[in-house]
Amino acid sequence: MIIEARKVFKSFKAVQAVKGISLNIAQGQFVALLGPNGAGKTTMVEMIEGIQKPDKGEILIAGKNWKGNEDELHHLIGLSLQETYFIDKLTVQETLRLFASFYGEKKGRVAEVIQLINLEEKKKSYVVNLSGGQRQRLALGIALLNHPNVLILDEPTTGLDPNARRDIWRILLELKKQSNTSLLLTTHYMEEAEQLCDYVIIMDNGSILKEGTVEQLLNDDNGSKTVEFTLDGIYESIDSDGMLPKIHWNQTSQQGMVLLNDIEKDMKAFLALLERNKLRLKNIEIRRKSLDDLFTSLTGKHLDE
Ligand SMILES: Nc1ncnc2c1ncn2[C@@H]1O[C@H](COP(=O)(O)OP(=O)(O)O)[C@@H](O)[C@H]1O
Ligand SMILES: [Mg+2]
Repeated sequence: MIIEARKVFKSFKAVQAVKGISLNIAQGQFVALLGPNGAGKTTMVEMIEGIQKPDKGEILIAGKNWKGNEDELHHLIGLSLQETYFIDKLTVQETLRLFASFYGEKKGRVAEVIQLINLEEKKKSYVVNLSGGQRQRLALGIALLNHPNVLILDEPTTGLDPNARRDIWRILLELKKQSNTSLLLTTHYMEEAEQLCDYVIIMDNGSILKEGTVEQLLNDDNGSKTVEFTLDGIYESIDSDGMLPKIHWNQTSQQGMVLLNDIEKDMKAFLALLERNKLRLKNIEIRRKSLDDLFTSLTGKHLDE
């Protein structure tokens, strides 16, 4: 295992940011920590990066503790923080050369990385003139300079437009093909976790709610189909009468959601429930369950709330 965390806890005064998280990342594996704002993702990855110390529990990088092994472990990890600050008056190439010199990497590596992050056209541009997506690619390039065993990215595409987000995804998928680097990525975009990661850990309020491959999470016993509906009239809540899985009713949007397993049988029960309670459908949609639907069924919230 390149990363092992065992029952890690971290509090800030009254806030328990991380409450007993354990995880393992194998060499070459891409893992997502998926959760909304405030879930504890940054706190967790910063402890793995050795930036923060756990109150309790153990973190091992390539089998070693941070304490006493800082220099060795820094060489194994490439990281990019939730916000990266650059020197605006340096060009892309100069920035990478500066970091390459810290790591003792040769100039040739800078050229390779510029190719990989697709900033060939921008290598002579000042960092201050880059777009948000280009800055994120540069941050990714810096993280990759010293051929890290594991890359840790904290919300690498938050705030980027869909095209810039896909550019980052392409680079990471290419990296997966070309190397045996592991990735630990935090995100609140379910699509990002789905597209990139072999294994997804869904967290909220400092704890793991569910984990598995995307396949496992979408086909678990919480149901594999999502029914979403709106009704005529205004309702505070909709009770499933114990005949069906819990119906999640969002009072603000006046939308209901229920996860069903056996769609033919369960839909009959659902329609019977509507009839019994004299509820009239305005709209109904049945679709394959998404990770966001799973999150909603576990917490009543959406990932991006
Ligand atoms: N340095 C800090 N001091 C006080 N509270 C913090 C600090 N860092 C994080 N928190 C709190 O811990 C919780 C988890 O935060 P964070 O790890 O940043 O979550 P995420 O990255 O998933 O948004 C939040 O409630 C946040 O306000
Ligand atoms: Mg964060």
